[in-house]
Amino acid sequence: DAEGYTHFMRKEIHEQPGAVERALGGRLDERFHTAHLGGLNLDAREARGIRRVKILGCGSAYYAGQVGAQLIEELARIPADAEPASEFRYRNPVVEPDTLYIAVSQSGETYDTLVAVQELRRKGGRVLGVVNAVGSAIARECDGGVYLHAGPEIAVASTKAYTSQAVVFALLALHLGRIRDLSPSDGRRICEGLRRLPGQIEEILKQEDRIAALAADLATYRSMLFIGRVRGWPIARESAQKLKEVSYVHAEAYPSSELKHGPLALVNPELPTVAIVPDDDLLDKNQSTLGEIRARRGRVLTVGHRELGDDSLVVPKSEPELDPILLTIPLQLLAYHAAVALGNDVDKPRNLAKSVTVE
Ligand code: BG6
Repeated sequence: DAEGYTHFMRKEIHEQPGAVERALGGRLDERFHTAHLGGLNLDAREARGIRRVKILGCGSAYYAGQVGAQLIEELARIPADAEPASEFRYRNPVVEPDTLYIAVSQSGETYDTLVAVQELRRKGGRVLGVVNAVGSAIARECDGGVYLHAGPEIAVASTKAYTSQAVVFALLALHLGRIRDLSPSDGRRICEGLRRLPGQIEEILKQEDRIAALAADLATYRSMLFIGRVRGWPIARESAQKLKEVSYVHAEAYPSSELKHGPLALVNPELPTVAIVPDDDLLDKNQSTLGEIRARRGRVLTVGHRELGDDSLVVPKSEPELDPILLTIPLQLLAYHAAVALGNDVDKPRNLAKSVTVE
């Protein structure tokens, strides 16, 4: 029983302000404009010696990892990237002593991620866990880590765990940044931005009725394109995945910059595009991409900080580095309401399991 909500997925979407509060709980340091993460097992000298960060996870955890890699690169200036754990474990990767490996998992039991961690440990890699389930297999295998404290997530499609993972990565990036090159004023800016998130999420959730109406309309299409640039790119990927998982509407995510190198050929009135268009230094570039789609009579739904056409979802402005956290939330509601409109089993999509604990 979803405690008064129609579905667990909707309940968990609405639990996000509280989940973010708990992910932040007691971890922000207002005096030194940094974050404290008790379980890292990484002292300042070791943290300064990190030359690279590699983040591993599956599904939404992998996309949260891509958000995390961008945050770590931006705030801590350490080269960082994310890779599906399911790929990493099969390709005999080079394991480097000065790389920090991070495994991301809601359940802490995903087999592909667990095996990747075990392989890393066998080869001397240092692995941190960003995990929700306390005492889970992945949490136990890691050298240290950060718990999400998001509470149980029941719906197969991850929502609050994804958001909490992104918040934890922002804390980790802030922490690493402040013992390396991040200035006190930027540290303060990120701390303040993080504190504002729960209230801003509440604001976004108030738009649910409008998003539901849009979703019912979009659910009549057979396929959709999701595009975003740089920070918008993992948002597009996560949001396309969410739509596919619960509504079974085909969705494909592309970096906006790649549109002209291929998928523009698909654009026509039958293929709507969801475009992530925050008010950042790439706004002009993104607007010209929208022009290219509209010139081919493609319908566009924008998600950003201002109205940019007929269908725009507007979210409160955050610090640019934190945009991926807020901009994903209206698109969780879009996927959820598309699935409801189509009469699907939202919490248990066909062919999927909440955690894949087998080979
Ligand atoms: C998938 C689930 O199989 O596992 C996804 O359907 C989830 O929703 C992914 O994101 C990873 O799960 P976990 O528990 O490792 O975060």
